Amino acid sequence: MIKEVVGLNCVINETAKIGEEVTLGLFCVIEADAVIGDGCQIGPHVVVHAGSQVGREVRIDAHSTIGKRPMRARRSIFKDDKELPPCKIGDNCLIGACAVIYAGADLANNCLIADHAAVRENVSIGELTIVGRGVTIENLTTIGRRCKLETGCYITAYSTLEDYCFVAPNVTTSNDNYLGRTEERFKHFKGVTIRRVGRIVAGDVILPGLEIGADAVVAAGAVVTRDVPARKVVLGAPARVFKDTPSEQLLENQGWEE
Ligand SMILES: CC(C)(COP(=O)(O)OP(=O)(O)OC[C@H]1O[C@@H](n2cnc3c(N)ncnc32)[C@H](O)[C@@H]1OP(=O)(O)O)[C@@H](O)C(=O)NCCC(=O)NCCS
Repeated sequence: MIKEVVGLNCVINETAKIGEEVTLGLFCVIEADAVIGDGCQIGPHVVVHAGSQVGREVRIDAHSTIGKRPMRARRSIFKDDKELPPCKIGDNCLIGACAVIYAGADLANNCLIADHAAVRENVSIGELTIVGRGVTIENLTTIGRRCKLETGCYITAYSTLEDYCFVAPNVTTSNDNYLGRTEERFKHFKGVTIRRVGRIVAGDVILPGLEIGADAVVAAGAVVTRDVPARKVVLGAPARVFKDTPSEQLLENQGWEE
């Protein structure tokens, strides 16, 4: 049962399954076989593409798009040879305004995706992770649970962030040291790996394929050109080890590890 349809201008495919107590804002589009769980609040102009699965008690604000099919430029290196699985949004997620979440994205329960964020295809995001305003998470990327990605950071394709990682505003990660030239580059594309509780702070640049060790810190404004050892603070351009991560900042000393 739909709790409220604001106006008569929603388009709901007859095969879509809408749960109990769902609110749909003006001009929503819910496509074929989409599932909207009980208690969801769907804002105006939201589009839920075919087959997408939205859990229970999810809030999606105005103008967001769920389950968008990727576009491929004519010369894109990515080929769509397999159909993508449906976009999945876990229970109790909050999706801000104008967010775009692609088909093949899989969000666990209790995630927050802020306004204008983009989550590409074949991305998984763990429980309780926060994806800040305007963040871009490119395809084929895994983000752990309880991570925090702050405003405007850029997570490149083929990256892995383990649990509890922190990425500050305007961090840029990268995956191609050949800058789009030579055939050789196809063998070497690799995103970044941030091990558990790694923290990458304001304005850092991480070069392709590098690993930031567990509970390491990359100080503000650094350019990381080599792997960063666990439990070290690095700084500068190129980044060099500066000191140990202060013990009072280690995750194990926060008292909130689950
Ligand atoms: C790592 C960090 C906390 C500094 O650590 P710190 O141990 O407190 O460093 P200090 O302020 O004592 O500075 C020690 C020296 O390193 C230098 N330094 C500090 N941070 C630096 C940085 N990011 N890059 C280059 N040099 C830096 C200082 O100039 C100082 O040099 P000096 O002794 O010649 O004057 C800080 O650089 C940082 O990155 N802060 C994070 C801010 C942030 O992005 N927060 C999250 C988003 S809001």
